[in-house]
Amino acid sequence: MSLLNTAAALNSQRICIVGLGMIGGSIARGLRRALPDLTISAVDQDAEALKTAWEDGTLTASGSIEELLSSADLVILAVPPLTLPNFLAQLQTHAQSHAVFTDVGSVKTHIIEALADCDANFASRFVPGHPIAGSEKSGYLAANPDLFAGRKLILTPLPQNSAAAAAEVNRLWRALGAEVLGMSPSRHDEVLAATSHLPHLLAYAIVDLLLHQDSSEDIFRYAAGGFADFSRVASSNAQMWSDVFVANAEATEKVLDQYIDYLRSLKALINQRAGEDLKTIFQRAKQTRDNFVLRILNPAQAMAMNNTPSSYRISPGGSVTGTIRVAGDKSISHRSIIFGALAKGVTRVTGFLEGEDAMNTVAAFREMGVTVTGPENGELTIFGVGMQGLQPPRKPLYMGNSGTAMRLLAGLLAAQPFDSELTGDESLSGRPMERIVKPLGQMGASIEMSAAGTPPLRITGADLVGLSYDMPVASAQVKSSLLLAGLFAEGKTSVTEPAICRDHTERMLRGFGYELEGGYPEAVVTLFGGGSLQATSIDVPADISSAAFFLVAAAITPGSELILQHVGVNPTRTGIIELLRQMGARIEVSNEKEVGGEPVADLTVRYSSLQGIEIDPALVPLTIDEFPVLFVAAACADGRTVLRGAEELRVKESDRIEAMAEGLKTLGIELETFADGIRIEGGTGLGGGIIDSHGDHRIAMAFAVAGLRASAEIEILNCQNVATSFPGFVSQATEVGLKIEELSD
Ligand code: S3P
Repeated sequence: MSLLNTAAALNSQRICIVGLGMIGGSIARGLRRALPDLTISAVDQDAEALKTAWEDGTLTASGSIEELLSSADLVILAVPPLTLPNFLAQLQTHAQSHAVFTDVGSVKTHIIEALADCDANFASRFVPGHPIAGSEKSGYLAANPDLFAGRKLILTPLPQNSAAAAAEVNRLWRALGAEVLGMSPSRHDEVLAATSHLPHLLAYAIVDLLLHQDSSEDIFRYAAGGFADFSRVASSNAQMWSDVFVANAEATEKVLDQYIDYLRSLKALINQRAGEDLKTIFQRAKQTRDNFVLRILNPAQAMAMNNTPSSYRISPGGSVTGTIRVAGDKSISHRSIIFGALAKGVTRVTGFLEGEDAMNTVAAFREMGVTVTGPENGELTIFGVGMQGLQPPRKPLYMGNSGTAMRLLAGLLAAQPFDSELTGDESLSGRPMERIVKPLGQMGASIEMSAAGTPPLRITGADLVGLSYDMPVASAQVKSSLLLAGLFAEGKTSVTEPAICRDHTERMLRGFGYELEGGYPEAVVTLFGGGSLQATSIDVPADISSAAFFLVAAAITPGSELILQHVGVNPTRTGIIELLRQMGARIEVSNEKEVGGEPVADLTVRYSSLQGIEIDPALVPLTIDEFPVLFVAAACADGRTVLRGAEELRVKESDRIEAMAEGLKTLGIELETFADGIRIEGGTGLGGGIIDSHGDHRIAMAFAVAGLRASAEIEILNCQNVATSFPGFVSQATEVGLKIEELSD
């Protein structure tokens, strides 16, 4: 199947642009080039601009403003911010009942306020937007059809916006080559006040200040590159920018106050002739600016730099007390994006994990034309495009460190009417993919991987047929990948698991209104393809896999008592509680309730002495990600702990059996490894040393916990990937009593 033409996906046939200046003109010219058959009209007081655009073939319709508005499917307001609200009444009177509206202004909250006075149905079709592209030049003659190619475009829809309208505006910017992001209007205005509005004010101010100096003639004559660079944007449209400051007064005043205070402190340093202090500040700023320029010019290199290794230095001892809520569940966060994107309507997510893995999944769906605002404080809004609404990605989709994202998306993408490619970081690029490629192939999918059976995955979209599959490994990722493919496949897809594994996909599908048969506690789950998903609200519980580090921390450390709030206690995930209890840990479960189909509870854990155990292999899939930290508990427990039947641990983000064995040996623990497990002789005390986490987030956090019972300092290398699953780990760990210091190498 060949790639569809992205631009052709714009549904609107007739576009009307109000304001044919530099931005409006660039939209018109870019659209004309991308979509030669589109009917484009424009409204402007400048008859010259209209005439030029007509003569160069950009505009193909003319008429009175009423006529143009009443025949348009999509209206783009490219007028100064304060003028914009004046057009709303006119639009409400004349526009068609299906028409969609957007704007391009640098301020968004004032539009939202103006829309609050409009008819709700009209407001639901107005999707505010702001291209982060421009030029100090103004007027149609400065218009550039490439202005938005590869540039960021921020949409700021509210949840009341219609998902269909958001999708249409998203397609508009996609046709112009932009990368579409989403933010809340207030966050947008705060960010832009600092990054765009303040610099414009400073540029205008310096030019005007110098103009009023007595010797301004001389000053301008000798002003060289620095002045020209700094003041470039003072050549921008004065009407537009005075509007921006009035419309965004609150946010700009706030950042301006900070800037004035900062200038005063710089003045004081100059007054004190504090050259060294100034140099330190300038060096810091220079480095930041250099990185910023690099990020723009060479994003790949910047990404590699972002991933510079960091390490943890853990001082021995301490105790663990307090009440915390750890970061959101990773498995549920990934799935909320996937199903929210495929649903009809607007899905709101709270408690979303703002870790790198889940953020890569957000970026992938944005790349496929889904409008997502946030996350801001764990809140995210997804404007679903429906089962058939994904757009072909324009570049490989980067899944970072996440096997879950890659395997789930492979199932989904195999069934799309377009081709795609999934890539990952070094760790993910070594992980086995045959486990999904083989059964998906039996459904008719066409997926190429490396000769070693690893990523990247090159997927040719295909029509799939349902499959009944007996999974050879108990893997929720494989099960979910097949169920996702099954949503699009003809007929029945049925997956049988050899042992219970997490059922978040099944629960969430039901939450989105999709019918399934079976599923936990039954070993078989079945669905029929061709249905649809209805948007819903999702409250992501705290991740029990992240909570596990603190469960063990408190359980092994005398004097500890810790409350972990709102933890997901889905019975397919609670192996860690069961196993710690078998070892003698004191864990109380309270405040149990269900949120959006997932059980949650508060967990209270107190220190008690632990004993080694033989782990029941049936509990392996229910504890799969928690073994690294459970091994630390085993090392602190009296006697022997034996794990068998866990060969899957060898193909996680690292070979977790070897990585843990190596680290525990460094700390002086006697152990033996097996192909499918480990024997640990605990209770002999932990020493210190240098441990390599092998870039595996869970190995790094497990050894940070070990520091509580160590007799000497532990240094853990390669901890940067903790950000993939638990971005706030160091600060939360410190808050409850771990003595942990993060060092950048
Ligand atoms: C996950 C399933 C598990 C788990 C992973 C998340 C999921 O992997 O280790 O961290 O979200 O479905 P497997 O399915 O490979 O066991």
